[in-house]
Amino acid sequence: MAVARLLSLVCVAAVLCPPSVVSQTCKEGDKCSEGGGGKLLIKGGIVVNEDVEMISDILIDNGHIQLIATEIAADSETRVVDARGKYVMPGGIDPHTHLEMPFMGEVACDTFATGHQAALAGGTTMHIDFALPVDGSLVKGWEEWRKKAAKANMDYGFHMAVTAWNDKVAEEMEYLAKNKGVNSYKFFMAYKGALMVTDEQLVEGFRHCKKIGALAQVHAENGDAVAAGQKYIAEELQILGPEGHALSRPAILEVEATERAINLAAWVNTPLYVVHVMSKGAMEAVARARQAGYRIIGEPTAAGLTLDESKMWDPDFKTAAAHVMSPPIRKHDVDGIALQNALKNRVLSLVATDHAVFNSTQKAKGKHDFRVLPNGVNGLEERIPVLWTTMVNTGKITPMDFVRITSTEAARIFNVYPQKGVIREGSDADLYVLDPTVEYTISPQTHHSALDTNVFEGIKCRGKVVTTISRGDIVWDNNQLFTKDGRGQYIETKPFSPYLFGGLEQEEALKRAEMNAPVKRNLDKIYA
Ligand code: URP
Ligand code: ZN
Ligand code: ZN
Repeated sequence: MAVARLLSLVCVAAVLCPPSVVSQTCKEGDKCSEGGGGKLLIKGGIVVNEDVEMISDILIDNGHIQLIATEIAADSETRVVDARGKYVMPGGIDPHTHLEMPFMGEVACDTFATGHQAALAGGTTMHIDFALPVDGSLVKGWEEWRKKAAKANMDYGFHMAVTAWNDKVAEEMEYLAKNKGVNSYKFFMAYKGALMVTDEQLVEGFRHCKKIGALAQVHAENGDAVAAGQKYIAEELQILGPEGHALSRPAILEVEATERAINLAAWVNTPLYVVHVMSKGAMEAVARARQAGYRIIGEPTAAGLTLDESKMWDPDFKTAAAHVMSPPIRKHDVDGIALQNALKNRVLSLVATDHAVFNSTQKAKGKHDFRVLPNGVNGLEERIPVLWTTMVNTGKITPMDFVRITSTEAARIFNVYPQKGVIREGSDADLYVLDPTVEYTISPQTHHSALDTNVFEGIKCRGKVVTTISRGDIVWDNNQLFTKDGRGQYIETKPFSPYLFGGLEQEEALKRAEMNAPVKRNLDKIYA
């Protein structure tokens, strides 16, 4: 650390009297938007990794980071990005999105083109999307999602949802993990009659995940109780507006399912990832489990950390409907703040968006009954600036923590580190430049998603992503996108992530030895 500080002082001196730096960023139609663009030098930025920050130059070539040093000279072939006074951070990795997902009778309106463009404008350069089975087949689902992703503008990976349990599902999970780079499987404990699985299926699925080295994930809400709650709220209390969504899915049902999933995963002894932890109670369940030594990961979302449930009571239906997601956005002063603190203290590990967007026309399907209102909110573009504003500008976390929760931790969990998630020589040149002085207000008029609303509308951000680089290409600069469909690549996520599975075999061996079973008995003697 002391060496890093010293280096950084030397670097500061270099920046105070820099060589003339010309900003020659990419223009529309330039080579750099075609992929594998020429050499790029990012000059004089505060380079932040999860463990250190220092002022450095970064030389990029062939889509990779070639050199990081205090002073790198640019040749005439090299484009230079002047990053002095700005932060340079590893490209964001959003571990939870649903692009073009068919859900509740609609298809999420951000595609792998529009969703990716929004992401790149907000500093995210990779995401992991949830593919759903097609005709009961996980392999068909994976193929279908690869087709959707032909338009990819940035790198992406897949989780797969498991919505039933049988031999074919088990075989396909193993096949996808071994051959297609899918190392995480999500089980829905809610959405009864659609995606929900039973506890027995959950246990079978967890056990299989452990066997194939995949990470089990859960959407934790008690789906049976939610169904009963919806009936009561809608039919007995005649509450049919978006507020009925919040009232029918209270935090207690999220807490119950979170605890149940954790207990089942602990019993099976497999790592578990709880997606979209939205309530203080669910976070506390994660905290207890981690304290008890279980391999449990909790993921809050940008919306859950920063917004308030009161929006679902908004008299304007469009606004209220835009905020409907599951589990619901909770009380900011109770839940949101507790989630922020848990993130600060590493009880929660990383931040996602759960970007699943339905436009006002699609949401209007639920104008007479919240039960058919498509669930989901945006965040791909907003996650980084909103979190920076909320957590870094307030001093809650450092820029290094910020890098960990928006990028590095996801790379480690999903086993793509150090290809992604770090600014290091040899790593993919996925990074962004954030100007901490620029102020702007989020608006659907200026965002890049296909959505016509934005749950973060009106939030004043201080800190803007001014340049994004994906695999060495400048894809966002000076408020303009320079990207094209099909430039993004599929990233295989390999099973048995050492970050999650390291030591599990030894733990298992000990548990097995402690069983002292089966006991050897001479049954012939008894019944002779
Ligand atoms: O409301 C949400 N979260 N929609 C997307 C599907 C899911 O549950 O993650
Ligand atoms: Zn979910
Ligand atoms: Zn989701």
